[in-house]
Amino acid sequence: MKKEDIKFLKERERKFREGDLPFGAWTLQTKTKWWNTIELQNVLNPLTRQKGRKLLDVGCSDGRFLEYFNKKIPGKVLFGIDFAFNPLKVLNKLGFPKHLICGDVCEMPFKGQVFDAAVSIQVVQHIPTRPERIRCLKGICNGLTEGGLFVISLVNQKRWHETVENGKEGNSVNNPSLYVYLYDPEDLAQDLDEAGFVDIKIVGINNVPEKYLKWIGVLGVWADFGISQLITSLSLRRGCYLLAVCRKKGKLGP
Ligand SMILES: C[S@@+](CC[C@H](N)C(=O)[O-])C[C@H]1O[C@@H](n2cnc3c(N)ncnc32)[C@H](O)[C@@H]1O
Repeated sequence: MKKEDIKFLKERERKFREGDLPFGAWTLQTKTKWWNTIELQNVLNPLTRQKGRKLLDVGCSDGRFLEYFNKKIPGKVLFGIDFAFNPLKVLNKLGFPKHLICGDVCEMPFKGQVFDAAVSIQVVQHIPTRPERIRCLKGICNGLTEGGLFVISLVNQKRWHETVENGKEGNSVNNPSLYVYLYDPEDLAQDLDEAGFVDIKIVGINNVPEKYLKWIGVLGVWADFGISQLITSLSLRRGCYLLAVCRKKGKLGP
């Protein structure tokens, strides 16, 4: 794909994100509390064991995850980056300390090994072309301290194949402003490896259909966790999202 086409696709998404209801607010309105809890808690779980203080949310939007994280593990130094300014303005008004940057996640502005952990939720799938996605992932890896943890959640190709015409990548049939690349566990592992991450573990999450969560509530959160951990191969086929946990090579941070 030509440089100007990549620029066009990114700009088309950025404009959409500026004008639309921010993603965090949208999920809270359209999904059940338990559906959101399953995704956010699965991203949070590995971070509870991570040493160090600085966490980066890549493509943070209006701070759905940063707010959740801050409630569960207060006192950390939180950073967020997103290219849409309006969702960042919403996040900025939330009453907890954080550092926000408006910019492209493929051109990380950080110098040196700054973060002890990073997360990215439903973002990298929207970056057009593999070299750009790798550039983003490498930027995240470079910004981590040695042994720094990275947790990424993305839509699962096996569940979302009907959302793009060829089943893998292109314009979303549900939203013509969005480009989507649908990861499967194999190419996700490959891209994380190429970006320099090690100890890559991938599971499927949000396995329990949302309609049942309404009835079983918190039990569904536990059931979902059980499916991811105990019947991982099923979760990789049935989970709505893929969750990868990996590290930058080297010793654990301080
Ligand atoms: C589906 S939303 C997810 C938001 C948030 N991570 C969450 O889960 O609530 C995708 C976000 O990624 C941002 N994004 C997509 N591509 C980006 C890029 N190249 N640089 C910076 N932000 C980007 C969008 O602006 C949007 O806020």
